[in-house]
Amino acid sequence: MKAVRKAAPSEAEAIHRMLADIDWISNSVKTDDGLQKIRTFCNKGEVWVVALDREVVAMMFLRLDLVSHSLSIPILTTAWRHRRNGYARLLIRQAKTEAVKIGCTVEGYPKNHQSINLLETEHFKLIQDHVDKNGNDLFRWSP
Ligand SMILES: CC(C)(COP(=O)(O)OP(=O)(O)OC[C@H]1O[C@@H](n2cnc3c(N)ncnc32)[C@H](O)[C@@H]1OP(=O)(O)O)[C@@H](O)C(=O)NCCC(=O)NCCS
Repeated sequence: MKAVRKAAPSEAEAIHRMLADIDWISNSVKTDDGLQKIRTFCNKGEVWVVALDREVVAMMFLRLDLVSHSLSIPILTTAWRHRRNGYARLLIRQAKTEAVKIGCTVEGYPKNHQSINLLETEHFKLIQDHVDKNGNDLFRWSP
């Protein structure tokens, strides 16, 4: 059975392993301290997953940014062998659903063409002259 839901703290290890597979992720995420932080984010309800039965196959951090009044997506990833099955899209749609509930926007700074394609096909708009510290452009979806 497929479910899109918030991650349980007990799923932090699986999420940590998935993040460790991303080539551009910082080494600090791959440490025990990184794992502990993921556990904390799960406890705070800031991590969403797609689960197939009990297997976590995709994850998304989703944080309310009080300054910009938006839900921000710092990281989104799908496990290698489950890619191109629409799981990242499911998570983006979940973010949009959550944004509608609280009346805010969704924002992200996609780091590669795959995630730019995904956001553009989910009707996120490029916001001119807004980049993160790595030079990635801001994309925003408004309900
Ligand atoms: C980007 C990523 C999250 C996509 O996950 P996914 O579950 O395979 O994505 P989906 O199957 O939901 O694809 C949704 C859309 O994303 C785009 N996309 C996904 N993979 C793509 C690829 N390899 N090439 C081009 N577009 C791609 C397409 O628009 C796709 O829609 P389509 O299949 O109808 O053409 C995944 O490749 C990944 O984990 N990459 C490593 C981590 C990363 O870079 N995350 C994004 C920045 S935070």
